[in-house]
Amino acid sequence: MGHLYCGKCEAMYELDDPRWRCDCGSYLDIEFKPSFDPVAISTGPRNLWRYRGAIPIGDDANIVSLSEGFTPLADMQIGNVKTKVKLDHLSPTGSFKDRGATVLVSRFKELGIGSVVEDSSGNAGSAIAAYCARAGIECTVFVPETARPEKVALIRSHGAEVKVVAGGREDAADAAMEAAESTYYASHAWNPFFLQGTKTFAYEICEQLAWRAPDAVVLPVGNGTLLLGASIGFKELLAAGFIDTMPELIAVQSSQCDPLAQAYRGDLAEPAAITAGATVADGIAVAAPLRGRQILEAVRESGGSFISVDDTEIEAARREIRKHGYSIEPTSAAAPAGLLRYRFKDKRVVTVFTGHGRKPGAPGANL
Ligand SMILES: Cc1ncc(COP(=O)(O)O)c(C=O)c1O
Ligand SMILES: [Zn+2]
Repeated sequence: MGHLYCGKCEAMYELDDPRWRCDCGSYLDIEFKPSFDPVAISTGPRNLWRYRGAIPIGDDANIVSLSEGFTPLADMQIGNVKTKVKLDHLSPTGSFKDRGATVLVSRFKELGIGSVVEDSSGNAGSAIAAYCARAGIECTVFVPETARPEKVALIRSHGAEVKVVAGGREDAADAAMEAAESTYYASHAWNPFFLQGTKTFAYEICEQLAWRAPDAVVLPVGNGTLLLGASIGFKELLAAGFIDTMPELIAVQSSQCDPLAQAYRGDLAEPAAITAGATVADGIAVAAPLRGRQILEAVRESGGSFISVDDTEIEAARREIRKHGYSIEPTSAAAPAGLLRYRFKDKRVVTVFTGHGRKPGAPGANL
């Protein structure tokens, strides 16, 4: 059906190899030829599994789904920019991470894995916890002590064990990797199957635009799982002849933690070495993104760019979105804040609400 591939040392592994990284220590990608059947898509379920032929899971019986994806694409005017917004904050666990989680946890089921560990500051953790609960897979999530309490409560509510780690995101990742020696590492940043789910974001946008690509897509970037998925998805549609052009990918980071935007501006191939400051956009505060080189390549290849936005702009965008009636979390407001900065003369632009503003567990805390 395809294989796992290392872009660093060019090693290849069978697709059914359960490994989550290359022998050389680098991350892996999936090489796989998706199939798109327009009739099967248009008559398929109203969720991301309508693109079944493009998702590398072998047996239907292993699909673990909460009917995620196929979120609305709403018309909106933000500031003076007319745009369309993909409402991924309406996903089952409240963020776009459900796209990656449904495919990743289906993969665990296919491999017969009964217990996994993951590290996350919140949304990915609650998505993986929910899908593992659905699949009957034991799940432990390592969270940094700085994680928002309402997100931690959500992870616990799905029956996952939460281990709070002193320090930041990188310390939580180290602790999870250590624990993974005796179980399976379900990292959404490392495991390329997660991107096989997030790529459906691109498929849906094009299908909802009657199989035309927009000119630009503006999206928030931390570890880049949405951006890399979008890049894969648009490229696959282009290769299959479903669209004629590749949209510019416009990646938005917080100016308090923008290693990729700085690398872009400085013409670097790898993320810039930075010291992160505090930001309301906790979900994109990733100082050393694992797939940083890949993200920079994907944005440059698309003809896109990076934008850094500060907390004041993020909060202002969030207040404006509230006036449109939507509640999104601060990380998610980075995208519309970036949209307001960018000059899109006569361009058809799509942006995304990646995370819902109302999370159970601490009522009111995240409004
Ligand atoms: C709401 C929200 N938006 C965007 C992102 C960024 O995703 P990524 O780190 O994969 O780039 C996250 C990550 O946690 C998130 O929670
Ligand atoms: Zn390698």
